Amino acid sequence: METLQELMKKLLADTFAMYLKAHNYHWNVEGPLFAQYHDFFSNLYTELHGAVDPIAEEIRAMDVYAPGSFSRFSELTDIEDETTIPAPREMCARLLADNEKVLATLNVSFKMANEFGYQGLADFIAGRIDIHNKHAWMLRSHTR
Ligand SMILES: [Fe+2]
Repeated sequence: METLQELMKKLLADTFAMYLKAHNYHWNVEGPLFAQYHDFFSNLYTELHGAVDPIAEEIRAMDVYAPGSFSRFSELTDIEDETTIPAPREMCARLLADNEKVLATLNVSFKMANEFGYQGLADFIAGRIDIHNKHAWMLRSHTR
């Protein structure tokens, strides 16, 4: 059970890290397809940002505190912080790799939520898996 709580904290950190990177790219992308990428990253960061609060509240519903600081997030997530401004396609490739990390956390969490009989949480996680599969499709399509 403690492991499920820790996994949900990691999911929160993963989601926030991916959200921040998508927002960073929304601000800083350049090139002839600026408007298209600017809007694409806007849709992505908006979706991810919308998921942060529900994930944190699922953590609180398990009666543990939700992490909410850069230092805790960087301890919890494997998603690398972005400090450069890559080319637009590379931005999508990096977000695609990050998305795979989020999906890995989600898949383990889903199995564990079922194992412990947390049906509501498993349903919530399944919804996130579906959305991240769609993010993967769109990011992948930008890199081909
Ligand atoms: Fe904006």
